[in-house]
Amino acid sequence: MELENILIENKSGILLITINTPKNLNCLDLKTLNELEKVIHFVYESETVSGAIITGAGDKSFVAGADINEFKTVNIDNSFEFSLNGQRVLSLIENCKKPFIAAVNGYALGGGCELAMACHLRVLSKNAQVGLPEVKLGIIPGYGGTYRFTNLIGRSKALEYMLTGKLMNSKDALQFGFANHVTTATNLINFCLELLSSVLSNSKVSIEMIIRSVNSYQLLDFTHIEAQNFTNCFKSGDVVEGIDAFLNKRKPDFTK
Ligand code: COA
Repeated sequence: MELENILIENKSGILLITINTPKNLNCLDLKTLNELEKVIHFVYESETVSGAIITGAGDKSFVAGADINEFKTVNIDNSFEFSLNGQRVLSLIENCKKPFIAAVNGYALGGGCELAMACHLRVLSKNAQVGLPEVKLGIIPGYGGTYRFTNLIGRSKALEYMLTGKLMNSKDALQFGFANHVTTATNLINFCLELLSSVLSNSKVSIEMIIRSVNSYQLLDFTHIEAQNFTNCFKSGDVVEGIDAFLNKRKPDFTK
């Protein structure tokens, strides 16, 4: 498998997947998303892999979101597909019978937070900060964040965090049920390896059936609703202002 932005390492049956573009805080551009999809298919198919851990390179960020530069080419005509494409890749993780753990080593924002939420378990380093700050860009979470965040932490807190765009620290993430565990940055991967090994010592059939049953919330399919509302954002000029403001390192002005 040819990969440029992702590293993989088989650690005794657990695939350690590292998003490796720390210069832009491991943001999930379309090339990286595409590579991630290939890696997920590898996890599905490989007889030597029983589960996976996803993390980000460096000590600052897990994944700081989709690549905001690429939003310059997203518009009313292609935004629905853009959203469905991300949802599809992340759903592959959620629906995999082999468990995935997100090892969140710093920022998990936007698409990064959505990636962490698609995993079956989340372990955060103490310095982690998670959130869905899309409201500051004039868009909404479009990779499954609106329904997974609400499902994980409840409607009240999910709405508060999405509507304000504020970030959640690791202590609050643990308290609100986003994180399964919090540990030190240096211990993060070992902690995840031990946790996943203990999961994998159980019945593979039971693991698969538990994941399938828990995922039955998907019978209420929110994917198209989110993708349509993501698209609706591109009918407004706010997204142009939000993205221009981020790329030019200034505060957006949505009053115009
Ligand atoms: N897309 C594209 N580039 C991104 C990015 C993203 N989601 N997140 C960070 N980067 C880039 C920055 O533009 C910067 O590039 P530069 O060095 O060429 O200027 C580099 O990564 C480092 O980020 P910087 O903003 O300088 O670091 P910081 O410590 O000051 O702030 C964050 C860190 C995470 C708070 C800030 O980068 C941020 O808000 N990122 C966007 C988060 C977001 O809105 N994600 C949702 C997108 S849908």
